[in-house]
Amino acid sequence: MHESEFKNRRQQIMRMIEDHSLLIIPSAPPKNRSRDIEYRYRQDSDFFYLTGFDEPNSILVLIPGRSEGEFILFCQERDRLREQWDGKRYGPEGAMNDFQVDDAYPIDDIDEILPALIQTKKYIYYSMHRDREFDNKLNSWVNEKSDKPKRNQYQQEIISLDHLLHDMRLFKSKTEITAMKNAVKIAVVAHENAIKKVHPKMFEYELEAEFIYEFTRYNAEHAYNPIVGGGENACILHYVSNNAELKDGDLVLIDAGCELKYYASDITRTFPVNGRFSRAQLDIYNIVLEAQLSAISKVKKGNHFNDPHNEAVKIITQGLLNLGLLQGKISRLIENEAYRRFFMHRTGHWIGMDVHDVGDYKVDEEWRLLENGMVTTIEPGIYIGNEKDIPKRYRNIGVRIEDMVLVKDSTPEVLSQSLVKDPAAIELMMGS
Ligand code: GLY
Ligand code: MN
Ligand code: MN
Repeated sequence: MHESEFKNRRQQIMRMIEDHSLLIIPSAPPKNRSRDIEYRYRQDSDFFYLTGFDEPNSILVLIPGRSEGEFILFCQERDRLREQWDGKRYGPEGAMNDFQVDDAYPIDDIDEILPALIQTKKYIYYSMHRDREFDNKLNSWVNEKSDKPKRNQYQQEIISLDHLLHDMRLFKSKTEITAMKNAVKIAVVAHENAIKKVHPKMFEYELEAEFIYEFTRYNAEHAYNPIVGGGENACILHYVSNNAELKDGDLVLIDAGCELKYYASDITRTFPVNGRFSRAQLDIYNIVLEAQLSAISKVKKGNHFNDPHNEAVKIITQGLLNLGLLQGKISRLIENEAYRRFFMHRTGHWIGMDVHDVGDYKVDEEWRLLENGMVTTIEPGIYIGNEKDIPKRYRNIGVRIEDMVLVKDSTPEVLSQSLVKDPAAIELMMGS
């Protein structure tokens, strides 16, 4: 992503915050996996969104005012020995050269510089509860005023940054849409490979391997723990064990997407392990597909965020009623949420740098209106467990179909459109 994109974002957020303020975001703390081994480092999304800088132990400070405002970065100093072990660092000088930083300082100097800066400002924009250690530091710096009132021009106030910044992140720029489409492309190929390669007696993790391979080839990684669930495992919403044998006659559900350059994809497909849907599987699959297509058609500027969900609920309830899996009057079944026995999650979520991306879903308790540039998933499903009152042919069927949809006036753009989901097209791809 070009430097100017990050700069534009910094300027936009600085225009949105009060005068006499500072905005502070710490980098993500490194995370321990076990004993002295860490997970591969992943920068905090908000921090990266405004900097493009991916090193740990860094603090971003923005100061609005004075023409373009100021971009200050505290980061790790160059260190030959540490770089020999852990990899290259930019150091303050490198950060100034490569990231359009106005002033960069060693992170070890933060206690001398930042508290003094804080005391010259009234409002501190900051997101609590992400880095406890830094929360405590900031609180102590802000509260220092009570001991030394003369040094203070202002009584500082910490204001939550989340709402403003996350509303900005909710609207994707052209560059971001391109980044998301790139993440989608890789995931689509991986799904296609899995659809083509599946066969009975394979293990779920062998299908997962298709995703690891395809993602890694493009320097992408899983955006979330992938779900590869055959038969009854497809009915476990957050199934991630992926270690069972796939059985002839079962469906397999794969929910997997990658993160490429900090943008995520999130796609689900469900297909028959042996290449042919049974009649009962098709009955269920077609309801979910109809619900998904119809929900997608509601992803329009001016509709409520919940309109696609209401649409999916209507079609799924009617479909289950037609099959005799629900009984009663449709309006009552919807009102009593009887469908939740089989469709127990919501139909979508924002997606962007985070899979479950930031941005409010409601404004003043009302579902917010969809606007151009928002991207939501549309992912209805039906999950039928192994329960006695269910006809045998419908037991252990879990189906979800998930795509990513960009709001674009009245014509929703399905970013993952190219991946098959029509059952006949899936069977054709499987060579059946
Ligand atoms: N893969 C997570 C989700 O679909 O929400
Ligand atoms: Mn999703
Ligand atoms: Mn998903």
